[in-house]
Amino acid sequence: MTSRPIPVPLTLGHTDIDGDHQEFTEWLVRLEAASGAEFIQQFGQLTDHLSHHFERENTLMVQSSYPACTEHRGEHNRVLGEMINFRARVESGRVSFGRAYVLEQLPGWFDLHVTTMDAALVEHLKRSQV
Ligand SMILES: [Fe+2]
Ligand SMILES: [Fe+2]
Repeated sequence: MTSRPIPVPLTLGHTDIDGDHQEFTEWLVRLEAASGAEFIQQFGQLTDHLSHHFERENTLMVQSSYPACTEHRGEHNRVLGEMINFRARVESGRVSFGRAYVLEQLPGWFDLHVTTMDAALVEHLKRSQV
């Protein structure tokens, strides 16, 4: 298993979004160190965090009439769907699937998502003063 380094989130200049990104990174660090029942519980908490994190951005996109809302929200839905699928596997005892996803997939996905889609959203919000 090749684990990716957990990225330090780029500060984008939006307090709530930056706070969510810091929290997401802290969950990845906790999950990397967790095992067994603790991993199962924390994987569920990470899923809940992502649900709130994505919902906050989705709401800001709607409130500010963000032109790329459909694409960005679609990406949130895709990743949340993966998390929900892995959560079910993890809770049925297949922890290694969830561990591989957290260590190998999420860090790279997060780094790319923050530096592209979230960065573009925050630039739009700054222009829109939302
Ligand atoms: Fe985000
Ligand atoms: Fe996002």
